[in-house]
Amino acid sequence: MQDISNFLKRTGRKIGFIPTMGFLHEGHCSLMLKARDEADTVITSIFVNPAQFGPSEDFNQYPRDFLRDYHICKSCGVDYIFYPESKDIYPNDFLTYVEVKEMSEKLEGKFRPGHFAGVATVVLKLFNITKPDLAYFGQKDAQQVAIIKKMTDNLNLDIKLRICETVREENGLAKSSRNTYLTKEQKEEAAVLNKALNEAKRLILEEEMHDIKELKKEVKKYIETNSPNSSLQYIAVTDFINLEKISDLKEYKGDVLISLAAYYGKTRLIDNIIFEK
Ligand code: PAF
Repeated sequence: MQDISNFLKRTGRKIGFIPTMGFLHEGHCSLMLKARDEADTVITSIFVNPAQFGPSEDFNQYPRDFLRDYHICKSCGVDYIFYPESKDIYPNDFLTYVEVKEMSEKLEGKFRPGHFAGVATVVLKLFNITKPDLAYFGQKDAQQVAIIKKMTDNLNLDIKLRICETVREENGLAKSSRNTYLTKEQKEEAAVLNKALNEAKRLILEEEMHDIKELKKEVKKYIETNSPNSSLQYIAVTDFINLEKISDLKEYKGDVLISLAAYYGKTRLIDNIIFEK
């Protein structure tokens, strides 16, 4: 892959890259189509990265179907699929990890220790292998986006990041490979998460609520009332640069990120909303 990327670069081609863990959905397609639009050559990676899964997480169950993914990539105009095996990415003598400190311990990081070191490490490796000019990520994983932005900036990577809007089901549920774990009823109920985030945005922008604790209570109540089979793990209100908690909504100016995670049965879903205040 690196030889191909080197060749593409020597011949002046602009490379657009979409890292994925496969089991592709419309969210990934929107990234691929944007890359197709902006770059000369589009590369996608499909790699279920063991380093970003905790010991009790769903690494083994994570859905995999290369043939299905291959056809989706083809229909979205992808030129190359990089599909490595674990031993190619993490050979026996692998010892080096990248860590974006502080930001990795917040929000998702509190419940998924080590997750973002796994993400940052594999993304840096994939960048070095595919050598993109442009790399595409979905806003659905907002903390991942903020951390990769920080890494790209801190390590002077010469790559432009394109952050694309979350693609949703008609009912508002964010598209995710993990939605395959949900029953039809859970899929309907889980749409409440997006509605709750929009309600939180409304409460903030219409200045109905300034107190973060009150706001979180309100959102929790909204989710529990409208989705009785959910179990909210956390809800957080932060900025979108360093993921610092916003303490005073009245005074705050800038991008607000509201993120949450909730369980439906054993399935853990995340979602967020970002807006300017
Ligand atoms: O967002 C994902 O699918 C993964 O975290 C990524 C960026 C492909 C790294 O494994």
